[in-house]
Amino acid sequence: WPVQAELIAEINRLKADRDAVILAHNYMTPDIFHGVGDYVGDSLGLAKEAARSDAKVIVQAGVHFMAETSKILSPDKTVLIPDLRAGCSLAASITGADVRLIKARYPGLPVVTYVNTTADVKAETDICCTSANAVQVVEWAAKEWGVDRVILIPDEFLARNVAAQTTVGIIAWKGRCEVHERFTAADIADMRAAYPGAEILAHPECPEDVLAASDFAGSTAAMTDYVAGRKPKQVVLITECSMASNVAGDVPGVQFIGPCNLCPHMKRITLENIRDCLINMQFEVTVPEDMAERARLAVQRMVDLPP
Ligand code: 13P
Ligand code: SF4
Repeated sequence: WPVQAELIAEINRLKADRDAVILAHNYMTPDIFHGVGDYVGDSLGLAKEAARSDAKVIVQAGVHFMAETSKILSPDKTVLIPDLRAGCSLAASITGADVRLIKARYPGLPVVTYVNTTADVKAETDICCTSANAVQVVEWAAKEWGVDRVILIPDEFLARNVAAQTTVGIIAWKGRCEVHERFTAADIADMRAAYPGAEILAHPECPEDVLAASDFAGSTAAMTDYVAGRKPKQVVLITECSMASNVAGDVPGVQFIGPCNLCPHMKRITLENIRDCLINMQFEVTVPEDMAERARLAVQRMVDLPP
């Protein structure tokens, strides 16, 4: 703890020197989340904050697609990521060329793309979504385009979960989150048997039978709000492991139990490499301006939708 306290103090000093903000995702470890994050939240919240912030430098305490999204929304700012290897299995599942093929196969249908994608995929997109607004975005796109089907890529499970909540037809892709696809309905059944009173919350990137067996499905921010609002005695968060640690800090008395999976990409970000990132101004994330311009339209449309 003394080492972490020193690092936290050093990072907070460096932030002021560099005119930097740290945008930290809910899956960051608690030392980052509670110690140095200026803004913490889900993918949607981080994107909105990137658009709003007037700092010169954004340090993305998250994964690469999040840093690209920040750069797309704030082209004049320097966007840094502490480790360039912080990727995402969903973002790696599809390329811009794939999207062009899908569009050729389904001409006239809008392309809705999860923010967990690279900038070249966003550049082929009509509007982005996150797990917090996917149903709203799909319904908006169907109405705007005057169609009854939309393309929703690349998360197969998110697409199925959205399809269960709307009459709009969904054309999906086969991408998966390597963290959430590993949860099973048997995990939920085991928790129900062991802790009959516990409330079970699952992320929409989980398989559909996991969500069907859970009490609530929502983005990481929606899970936080649910726990903060209802303060259940016992809660199971079917998602990345740091979520429970981070939320627990704000809701004393709630017991967090049950399985979780680590995201190896999120876990590449540490206090040490955040400190180094601010000292050496590394690693800068850039997006070619023509690509960024096309991607910006898709991200900004999402950001501009009413809450
Ligand atoms: P949200 O924070 O938008 O729920 O996304 C979770 C996730 O897996 C981001 O990588
Ligand atoms: Fe990607 Fe899943 Fe990790 Fe989020 S948790 S960054 S979706 S691999």
